[in-house]
Amino acid sequence: MPTLRELLASRLRDALIACDLDSARADVSQAADARFGDYQANAAMVLAKEKKANPRQLATGILSKLDVTGLTTTPEIAGAGFINFRLENSFLSGALSGLASDPRLGVHAAENPKKILVDFSSPNVAKPMHVGHIRSTILGDCLVRVARFLGHDVTADNHIGDWGTQFGKVIYGWKHFLNLADLKKDAIAELVRLYREVTRLEETDESIKRTAREELVKLQAGDAENLAIWKQTVELSWREFEKLYDLLDIRFDERLGESAYDAALAPLCAELEMSGIASASEGALCIFFPDTPSLEGKPAIIRKSDGGFLYATTDLATIEYRIKHWNPDAIWYVVGVPQALHFQQIFAAAKMMGIECELKHIAFGSILGEDRKIMKTRSGENVGLAEVLHEAIERARRIISARADQLPPDEAESIARLIGLGAVKYAELSQNRLTDYVFSWDKLLAFEGNTAPYLQNAYVRIRSIFRRAEEPANPAAPIFLNEPAERALGLKLLQYAETVPLVLEEFRPNILANYLYELANTYHSFYEACPVIKADAANRASRLLLSDITARTLAHGLSLLGIGCPERM
Ligand code: ARG
Repeated sequence: MPTLRELLASRLRDALIACDLDSARADVSQAADARFGDYQANAAMVLAKEKKANPRQLATGILSKLDVTGLTTTPEIAGAGFINFRLENSFLSGALSGLASDPRLGVHAAENPKKILVDFSSPNVAKPMHVGHIRSTILGDCLVRVARFLGHDVTADNHIGDWGTQFGKVIYGWKHFLNLADLKKDAIAELVRLYREVTRLEETDESIKRTAREELVKLQAGDAENLAIWKQTVELSWREFEKLYDLLDIRFDERLGESAYDAALAPLCAELEMSGIASASEGALCIFFPDTPSLEGKPAIIRKSDGGFLYATTDLATIEYRIKHWNPDAIWYVVGVPQALHFQQIFAAAKMMGIECELKHIAFGSILGEDRKIMKTRSGENVGLAEVLHEAIERARRIISARADQLPPDEAESIARLIGLGAVKYAELSQNRLTDYVFSWDKLLAFEGNTAPYLQNAYVRIRSIFRRAEEPANPAAPIFLNEPAERALGLKLLQYAETVPLVLEEFRPNILANYLYELANTYHSFYEACPVIKADAANRASRLLLSDITARTLAHGLSLLGIGCPERM
């Protein structure tokens, strides 16, 4: 079944055609205020402006040709010329019965499935994942889940930073003061210690600085010893990253880090220079963007005067490789706002190279501490993802044990994980990705408000109704929407189908999060107003079915956000 919005829009389209009006204006949106109906169209107002006509008169003409039999009551004209629709209860009931046995809950797959590569998480080796990586990891995974559910062919690629200048210091540190026991315990922490120690020593000792730089040059030239050390640092770091990905239930199809493209950089630069896309400037090789006004005076350097390559060079080689190996229709980069200029440059360069693939920078802001400054640990360092996740689980454990001490320990532990990790993910996904958000433990773990525990709890409460009812929902039971609260819930459930695809329109998981929050609230009002178990047989069956569809929608929507639901908590 098409979504409610599509159904109404297509009836309106027919009416516009019958009136000789531009059918492209047949857009319908959810009514902001339930008093004016369920949906509204502003087509008459838009068209009247274009034709310099009277909008209410135009609306009357459109209504005379509008056939909504079986779908809505007679549409009304309101205000300056809005057309308001109110769906028939009988139509809603029928549509809800369709949802009752539909595993996709009404959401249909995209008409034109695309091949999409998502570049996300992408932490740097020998450096801890910081909050920027938290956002990329959670946001990217959610976009992958939604795109797959909508039928796109998705490759999740972790473009790890495994080939940077940091390796000069790391290798020097490894050779001079590596602590093997610490490396075994927490590889990243030990690698970070080496990096910091060398940075500190370099400040006062020029010879260390020189030697560290030589180690980097040796590595880049393929020195066997340095390559072996580098390889170990990458593998050890990856193992630590993987622990976090496992905990978060996040998978990648590819893990092609920056090092994978190293051999392609020199030939790429030569090619770009030959074709005239890049040109020499003060000894460096640059790409200028004469056709992109916003990039005036901001060339991308792709080879330094000392012959070294840069982040931009690697990203251009990466795009070339991806086009050759996957030929995606789109590549999505989930990376923070500070890299906006970088992506503008490489997208413009890719265009000059004749690459037609749709390239999107899906940017996000920062996470702030409760003091509204960039979140730091007490000792002033960037907060790592590992600490955040473990603290979340630990706090959830305490909450669980205070709520229900009779749970078996295994179950309590798995619930604590679902709640703790769900809360961290939801705090990210319920925000507009471009705004900075304040990370507050109390807020994100609260059982009231727009939080994961609130939504998980709404699900759990519905499951407990079924335990008390001692019968499952019957998908064939007729659905009644006589009470306003029942009708509001039924309408909301049917709107899941038009909500999920919106997430990809502007890459905003918060649209889905807000929908789920409203759904949980709508269910809450329904439950207050309409007895379920104590109702007469027909109403009981109808309300149990509405409850079941609600629970399934909550669990499904949360799963698209990468969040699991316990059966009790
Ligand atoms: N490793 C980079 C960082 O931590 C992010 C890489 C993003 N992906 C890309 N293709 N540039 O800042």
